[in-house]
Amino acid sequence: MCGIVGYIGSKQATPVILEGLKNLEYRGYDSSGLALLSNGGVELRRSVGKLSNLDDLLRQKPAQGTSALGHNRWATHGAPSEENAHPHTDCTQRLVVVHNGIIENYLPLKEKLMAQGHVFKSQTDTEVVPHLIEEKIKTMKAARGSVAKDLLEPLLFDAVRQALGELRGAFALGILWADCPKVLLGARSQSPLVIGLGQSEAFLASDVPAFLSYTRKAVFMDDGEIAVLSPEGCRLFKLSGQKVEKNSVQIQWDRTMAEKSGFKHFMLKEIYEQPRAVEDTLRGRLFPLKDGVLSRECGFSPDTLGRIQRIHLVACGTAYHAGLVGKYLLEHFAKIPCEVDIASEYRYRDAAVDPETLVVAISQSGETADTLAAVRGVRARKAKTLAICNSMGSSLTRESDFTLYTHCGPEIGVASTKAFVGQLSALYLLTLHASLARGCFSDAEGRQFAEELMRIPGIIRNVLKLDPQIQELAKIFFRKEHFLYLGRHINTPIALEGALKLKEISYIHAEGYAAGEMKHGPIALIDKEMPVVAIATESSVFEKVISNLEEAKARGATLITLVTEGEQRIKGKADILLSMPHVSEYFAPLVNVVPLQLLAYHIAHLRGCDVDQPRNLAKSVTVE
Ligand code: AGP
Repeated sequence: MCGIVGYIGSKQATPVILEGLKNLEYRGYDSSGLALLSNGGVELRRSVGKLSNLDDLLRQKPAQGTSALGHNRWATHGAPSEENAHPHTDCTQRLVVVHNGIIENYLPLKEKLMAQGHVFKSQTDTEVVPHLIEEKIKTMKAARGSVAKDLLEPLLFDAVRQALGELRGAFALGILWADCPKVLLGARSQSPLVIGLGQSEAFLASDVPAFLSYTRKAVFMDDGEIAVLSPEGCRLFKLSGQKVEKNSVQIQWDRTMAEKSGFKHFMLKEIYEQPRAVEDTLRGRLFPLKDGVLSRECGFSPDTLGRIQRIHLVACGTAYHAGLVGKYLLEHFAKIPCEVDIASEYRYRDAAVDPETLVVAISQSGETADTLAAVRGVRARKAKTLAICNSMGSSLTRESDFTLYTHCGPEIGVASTKAFVGQLSALYLLTLHASLARGCFSDAEGRQFAEELMRIPGIIRNVLKLDPQIQELAKIFFRKEHFLYLGRHINTPIALEGALKLKEISYIHAEGYAAGEMKHGPIALIDKEMPVVAIATESSVFEKVISNLEEAKARGATLITLVTEGEQRIKGKADILLSMPHVSEYFAPLVNVVPLQLLAYHIAHLRGCDVDQPRNLAKSVTVE
C-alpha cells in the first residue's frame, strides 16, 4: 500500500515530509517522491528504490517551502520508475496529486483527457487525477470569466469535487495547487486518510505514524469526504459540499503499535486486512464480463484462454495450496485439465508441456527461486506462462508471458495470510474469464459467479467475529504437540494450509490430510492427545466428512470442527463447533481458511513464539 504525507504550516516542509515517509516505510514501497510549493511554483523530486535515494536527491537539489506532499509508492499500475513515482502533476506543472488506491476507470478518463489535449508522462492510473482537476478548473474559469485571487480556493474546491465525482474505485488523495498556496486538500474514498492537527500546522497522512512525532491530535476521514487543511486547522466537507463537523481524537499508540494499526503483530493485522485484499484484487476486474477486462490487463487475449488445452499450477508453500484450490475451480467450471506441483519438484521433472499449455506460477514475492526456475524451464519448451503475483516488477512478473497481480499491499508477516486469499481471488478471476472464453459459462452464470465473489469480503468480515471464541480455544490447546487437520474436496488444500500456518509459527507438529485418506495411515496417530481440526461446512461430500469425524472421535480425538451455521447433522459428533456463514461449496476456501489462520496465530502467541518472524523462516526463499 502506498504512503501519503502532506504538510502545511510554518516549518520547512522537506524534513517533515521525509520523516513522515520514513515512518510509513513499513507499508512497503518501491519508489518515493515529494513536491513543495516554492517561490510561487512547484518543486518536484522523485526517485526509485529506497527513501534514502530521495533524501540524497534533496541534498543535491534542496527545495524550500512550507507546504508539501510526499509519497511512498507501492506499484499497482506501471512498473517502479521515476516517471511513475508520485507526486503527479497536470499540464501546467502547478497542480500536484499523490494517491493511494486503484482508480478503476482511469483508462476511459485518460483517453478522454488526451483527446482534450492533455499530455501524460506515466503509465499510472493516478495521473488522470491532476489532469482531470485541471480540466475542471479550465472549464469553470471559462464559465466564470477571470477569477479573483481570493476566489481561487472555492474554484479549486469545486474542481476537486467535480473531478472526484467522475472517479470510480478506491482512492486517498493529497492535492496542492501553486495558485492556491494557503490550502492543502485531501479526499478519501475506500482508502484510509487521517489528518494531524498541530500548533499552526496540519498534516495529511495514510496512517498516524507519519505525524506522531509532531502531534497526537488526529481526525480520521471517512469515505466521501474532502478535507481543506491550512495552518489554522482543517475543514471537512461531503462530496456534495455540505460541511462535516467531526471531533479530533488523541492517539494513544506509540509508533510501533501505530504501524500495526494497534494490532499486536503484523500477521494479525494482515488477517484482518483480508476482506480488503479480496476487494482490491477483484476491483475493476469482474464487470463488464464480456470485454475480457482481465485479458486486456494481463496481456492475453480471450481466445488465448480458449486455446489452452491444459494448465499446470506451480508454486511453493502457501502459494502451492492456492494452486490446489485452483485445480478444483478450473476443472469444475472451465473444464480445463489441471496439474498442480510444488515448484522444487516441477523444475526437475520433465513436465510434458507445449504451446497449448499454460503454466500458472503463483508467488507473493515473485522472487522464490524454485518457482522462478520452474518458469524458466517451461518457457524454454514454449509453454505459455502466467504469473499470479503480489509484487509489481518482481523477477517472476518480468520473466512470465502474462501477469495477473494480486492487490494485497505488502505482506510483512512471514506467514502468508492476506496474500493467500489474494491468490485465491486471482484464481477465481482466472476461472471466471476462462469459463466465459471457453463457453462454459453463459452470461447469466458468469454474472452469478461474479456476484458470489463480491459477497466474499463481507462474509470474511463476519467470520473474523469468531476471533474471541478462537482465542479461548487456543488457551485449551496451545500446549498440544501434535494436530491433524482434515478436509475433503476443495477444502483439502485449506486443511493443508491450516496445518502449515500452525506448524510454521507455533512450531507444533501439524499434518493436513484429505479426510478420506485418514484410514490409510494417519488414523494410527489419533489419540486423546491429538486434536483434530476438521472442515465440515456444507458441501457435496458433507456426509463423507461426518463419517471420517466419527472414526476420529471413536479413537479419542478432540474434534474442532468448522460447520455451516444451523447444521443439525453434526450434533453430538464434534466437541467444538465453529459456526460458519453459508457459502457455496466452491467459494468456501476463501472463507474457511480464516478461522484456521486465527487459531494458529493465537496458539503461537500463547506459546510465546515470534509470530511475525518465525525461527528458520524467510519471507521470500530466494535460494534453492
Ligand atoms: C507461507 O506462510 C510461507 N511463509 C511460505 O510457504 C511461502 O508461501 C512460500 O515460501 C512461497 O512464497 P512466495 O509466495 O513468495 O513464492
